[in-house]
Amino acid sequence: MRWHKKFKVLRCYILILGWLGILLLFLSYWRVESDSAHPPPPLVVNTGMQPMSGQVLQQDKPRSKKLRHQCNPPDRIQRHQEGVLPSQYELIGVLIAFRHGDRGPLLPVSNLSSINCGHKSYGTPLYKKYVSDILNTSKTNTYINFVGPFMKYPLLPPPSKCNIGHLTPQGVAQHLQLGKVLKEVYSDELNLIGIKQELDDIVVYSTKYRRTFQSLLAFLYAFLPGFNISKIRIRDGKGVSFCENECHCDKIDFYDQKYEQERQDYRKSHPGVMDLVRRLSPLIKASPTADDITNPRVMQDALLSYVCHGASLPCNEGKCVRVEEVTSLISYADWEGKQKRTSAQRKAAKLKSYGMLKNIMLSIDGMIGEGKPRVVVYSGHDKTLKYLLDSLSIPNYPLPHYASRLILEVYHNSTNLQDIHQRSNYFFRVVYNGKDITKLIPFCGTITLKQLKFGGVKRGSINLCSLGNLENYLKPQVYFKEFNAASFKAACRK
Ligand SMILES: *[C@@H]1O[C@H](CO)[C@@H](O)[C@H](O)[C@H]1NC(C)=O
Ligand SMILES: *[C@@H]1O[C@H](CO)[C@@H](O)[C@H](O)[C@H]1NC(C)=O
Ligand SMILES: *[C@@H]1O[C@H](CO)[C@@H](O)[C@H](O)[C@H]1NC(C)=O
Ligand SMILES: *[C@@H]1O[C@H](CO)[C@@H](O)[C@H](O)[C@H]1NC(C)=O
Repeated sequence: MRWHKKFKVLRCYILILGWLGILLLFLSYWRVESDSAHPPPPLVVNTGMQPMSGQVLQQDKPRSKKLRHQCNPPDRIQRHQEGVLPSQYELIGVLIAFRHGDRGPLLPVSNLSSINCGHKSYGTPLYKKYVSDILNTSKTNTYINFVGPFMKYPLLPPPSKCNIGHLTPQGVAQHLQLGKVLKEVYSDELNLIGIKQELDDIVVYSTKYRRTFQSLLAFLYAFLPGFNISKIRIRDGKGVSFCENECHCDKIDFYDQKYEQERQDYRKSHPGVMDLVRRLSPLIKASPTADDITNPRVMQDALLSYVCHGASLPCNEGKCVRVEEVTSLISYADWEGKQKRTSAQRKAAKLKSYGMLKNIMLSIDGMIGEGKPRVVVYSGHDKTLKYLLDSLSIPNYPLPHYASRLILEVYHNSTNLQDIHQRSNYFFRVVYNGKDITKLIPFCGTITLKQLKFGGVKRGSINLCSLGNLENYLKPQVYFKEFNAASFKAACRK
């Protein structure tokens, strides 16, 4: 009898503990999912809401947050959902594509010479150490093999002068930070690369711009254990979409023009925004005789050269650009970037990144078959990331800010003991600026693992896509189906 009573009490305890557990799990999960104070911002699902026509956009968020997002200062670059899987999934390789860091404007702007582009980055101890180390390294024999076709490129941007389209010290600092963050994940924690590298364990590409090359140097300096470059060769990425073969395609122009026309239409339907651009143009132009700036994206880019470097916004005859006007343009550019009226944008992107996707698949085959490469890095542009995201049919994503990163992680499910090397035991996931976007890839039919909190890192839900799905997607008859074609050549025919 007494035993029975004890049992009842015990059951009661277990019940209470169980409920407490569930409550705790719920709380921690909720904390993970709603942690909006930290970057990156959640991927916003398009609600179909249009910014107000005929009027300047209303701000929906604190202005500083929007500007911080665009400028992406180094302290904002933190680990988020990279490399977070239960240990039964062994990471066998990563492919990292990133945008270069902060740069000067793409066209001359008023008062450019008085903007200090070394603002807050140049002269910090970290920057100084980097400068002296990289200068030292550049004098060694290994450096010549390491940089290959980039031998003549300057190692560093100018200390404070803002040059048109050139990287800034802030851009270097962003990539030092990104390299450090990803080293902690992929090298220190997941052991993907160690001090002992062999040739082709790491494959790196850069486009032939100073800003992408200098970004890559800073990244590798922080990312490689001991910055040992003896077994690494930087390769020419062959253009913004890193395409080596099956690249030339006459049909691309057609889709690009169609997409451009759509953008013109969006702008026509937002006279308020166009008005704003017209009003700001005389304040921003480098000289009264320069061409007017009429494109909101170009205007936003010009304005970022002031706001990202702590410079005051330009004035003319007592009229000054206001911060609210900058955020309005950013809101518009974001909105416009998310519009996908027809498939023109995606089709153009698919044709442009077919070569790169096939190259990615080849690297993955190598990771599975020979265990190398273990890391592939593409140092590119916002367009590089946009083409990839569009060709994976990601429905909605924030446009890539400076030093944005798009990472594809390849895993082996090592619990499945039968046929260890079977293709079906390999998976991948895609993480964009720290956010797992695997479940947004339409061809994935994702597998969701719920891993809550582990080792002090916020993890949230984790998704995997089986490698077979990607392989299948890249089959010409599947990939080019929406072109009514079964090959790149046929899809490109005019
Ligand atoms: C740079 O190289 C020189 C000579 O090889 C060495 O004396 C110096 O300590 C190095 N500096 C750094 C910061 O590694
Ligand atoms: C760099 O790596 C190579 C090859 O793994 C190795 O032989 C060499 O000792 C390393 N150098 C340093 C300074 O660690
Ligand atoms: C140019 O920049 C300087 C220094 O920031 C500032 O004092 C000046 O007002 C600016 N001139 C214009 C036309 O914005
Ligand atoms: C990994 O393998 C285990 C054992 O076969 C299996 O239970 C699990 O579902 C596999 N994971 C995935 C994502 O398929």
